[in-house]
Amino acid sequence: MAVFAGGVPWRWLGLAGLVLTLSLEAVARYVRGRRRPLCEVLFFPVPVTCPEPALSPGLSCPCPLPHTDSALSRLLRRILAAQRSLELCVFTVSCAPLARAVLQLHLRGVRVRVITDSDYMAASGSQIGALRSAGVIVRHNQTSGFMHHKFVIMDRTVVMTGSLNWTMQAIHTNKENVLISDDQTFVKAYLEEFERLWEEYDPATYDFFPDKDQK
Ligand SMILES: *[C@@H]1O[C@H](CO)[C@@H](O)[C@H](O)[C@H]1NC(C)=O
Ligand SMILES: *[C@@H]1O[C@H](CO)[C@@H](O)[C@H](O)[C@H]1NC(C)=O
Ligand SMILES: [Zn+2]
Repeated sequence: MAVFAGGVPWRWLGLAGLVLTLSLEAVARYVRGRRRPLCEVLFFPVPVTCPEPALSPGLSCPCPLPHTDSALSRLLRRILAAQRSLELCVFTVSCAPLARAVLQLHLRGVRVRVITDSDYMAASGSQIGALRSAGVIVRHNQTSGFMHHKFVIMDRTVVMTGSLNWTMQAIHTNKENVLISDDQTFVKAYLEEFERLWEEYDPATYDFFPDKDQK
């Protein structure tokens, strides 16, 4: 081993440096790949609490309701975390705090698309009109058979789905569940279903007006 005669050659130090860099990179890639998947389940009903801490963080609210965390505030925060897109496919939307969260995203410039059931769109308490008048694009089923889905996709990376009707009654009295996941297999499947329904419910293909054939 004559190479050691004059001390450690520079060439070897360079090689060691390279090996170190490569292995640090491999470790970083491993850690990134093993990022903890998002899997959360929320259960309802929850007691009535003030939605303001989730909807307007940082503002103090003087209302008499408790300002504690709940499954509803967690749901609101998840929705509000969307930065680019929100696909909402729900049977009914009459829960005002949830509608406000959707509206906030729309006003912030997030691309919001809503699919809902035609029977409940204009029912008393429905928030669909408010969303529509703010400019949110809403489509609805065009054939019988409830549009009974209840899922929402954020930024094409997180899906929330479960039994929860977006109504106050469901949130505060029913036994309901919502599962939240960023598993891309699930997200992709839900996105595909959304896109399929979005096309199927395109208003350009409305065919249920009774006088259509007489025109
Ligand atoms: C949507 O589904 C509901 C529930 O089945 C039905 O009553 C309603 O007529 C459907 N809407 C249209 C436009 O077909
Ligand atoms: C879901 O909401 C609709 C419309 O408000 C209502 O008719 C239906 O009974 C609700 N479902 C449950 C399980 O509460
Ligand atoms: Zn309050």
